[in-house]
Amino acid sequence: MDNKVIIFDTTLRDGEQALTASLSVHEKLQIAQAIERLGVDIIEAGFPVSSPGDFDSVKQIAKTVKNSIVCGLARAVEGDIKACADALSVADQFRIHTFISTSDVHVQQKLRKDFSDVEAMAIHAIKYARQFTDDVEFSCEDAGRTPIDNLCRMVENAIKAGANTINIPDTVGYTLPNEFGGIITNLFNRVPNIDKAIISVHCHNDLGLAVANSMAAVQAGARQIECTINGIGERAGNCSLEEVAMIMKTRQEFLGVHTNINHQEIARTSKLVSQLCNMPVQLNKAIVGGNAFSHSSGIHQDGMLKASNTYEIMTPESVGIAKTKLNLTSRSGRHVIKHRMESLGYKESDYELEKLYSDFLALADKKGQVFDDDLEALLFNIQQKDDQDYYHLNTLNVQSGGDFATASIKLLSGEYSQVTSATGNGPVDALYRAIKAAVDIDFEVTDYKISNKGSGEDGLGKADIVVTWQGRNFHGYGLTTDVIEASGLALIHTLNSIHRAQAIAEIKEARAASN
Ligand code: KIV
Ligand code: ZN
Repeated sequence: MDNKVIIFDTTLRDGEQALTASLSVHEKLQIAQAIERLGVDIIEAGFPVSSPGDFDSVKQIAKTVKNSIVCGLARAVEGDIKACADALSVADQFRIHTFISTSDVHVQQKLRKDFSDVEAMAIHAIKYARQFTDDVEFSCEDAGRTPIDNLCRMVENAIKAGANTINIPDTVGYTLPNEFGGIITNLFNRVPNIDKAIISVHCHNDLGLAVANSMAAVQAGARQIECTINGIGERAGNCSLEEVAMIMKTRQEFLGVHTNINHQEIARTSKLVSQLCNMPVQLNKAIVGGNAFSHSSGIHQDGMLKASNTYEIMTPESVGIAKTKLNLTSRSGRHVIKHRMESLGYKESDYELEKLYSDFLALADKKGQVFDDDLEALLFNIQQKDDQDYYHLNTLNVQSGGDFATASIKLLSGEYSQVTSATGNGPVDALYRAIKAAVDIDFEVTDYKISNKGSGEDGLGKADIVVTWQGRNFHGYGLTTDVIEASGLALIHTLNSIHRAQAIAEIKEARAASN
């Protein structure tokens, strides 16, 4: 049996479907490119039939990504599969992933069908998908709770119909590691054509066992793991990519398997996904949590000073966390910035040095010392800027103290500019009222958070907000040294997303009217 475990990333599908606010096409593309750099074999980019936005982003990703195979999800019906093929066919090679439930509870209660109807639908869907590509994956949804005889029958027929990857999901995160490993062993022992397909697993984390179950499956012969960055996904999430990747690296001798993952890209990819998805990573999260490599107890610190392997089974550098922290000032030249970015894992082609350097100088003037986290935050800011933005916050003046605050702003909307003022019960309230007075959008701010993104007390402030407009949620962020300004930029970010959504809705209405 091949010792390579294929890594199938579903951050942009299972992960994205669990977010409060969906990602823009630009953000999805950024994540897909980071996942490609991470060395993932298959990227599940979305569920094309679910919305025009999803269709479009799957298409853009399929056009852009070259080193990973791009895949789309489809229910076992022709319309879904055709939408997948239409979105993906811009790529030379692509995968269609089709699925249907196989457990009694899903077949009877959710689908209100018989197992044999479901089996016929699966066979038809797989044969139909094979008309568009040779690479077809089939998933038995809720396989973890499917009677083993039915599961074996479905897997055998799916392979006969042309599926070359068979995915066994523990959809509700119900099984225990030896039980889930046992299901995989049973499939290998009982399905006569099992050698014609790769066996994949897709475990959810409802009981905190997604990673343990995936590893038990690998030990039983599975050779594809479906997972997400930081373990994001439906409910308690999916199997975490960084954890399985580091388990297979750190315990390679014991497990005898390997992956294609570039482990040094892990920290950076985790940070990007956390920021864009507005999903903070818990401090004690394995591999990528803020405390994953910090040692608090005196005994441990003493051990670490003598030999780091006393308390570290892997180094922070092995997952891309830089060791040296060189503090930069306005006297640092471009070559120092370039060198520092290189040690943080960024090639010069990843960013525009001149732009980064001028933003760096502006920040160094404001805060004196600039740290690695600040540099990464500046780059993040540059990557988020979109030349097509309609709204720009040109001037901002906020005064607070006493019982109320006042804010005056100058907002550029396309070629118009408008000055508005408002009072509020605090500086952010006043600012948001002033911005609301300048735009013709009836929105509500439904979530608001401030966090520290740089190092030390003069680090950068990041505002993350969720705005609801016409029943849809939009996530926006602003990152700067002033938290009030960051709050304003976060709102402007969401208003630009709403403006784009309005433009798309108008185009659709005009098309519908002319038909
Ligand atoms: O959890 C699940 O079963 C899924 C399938 C669509 C693979 O996400
Ligand atoms: Zn899932």
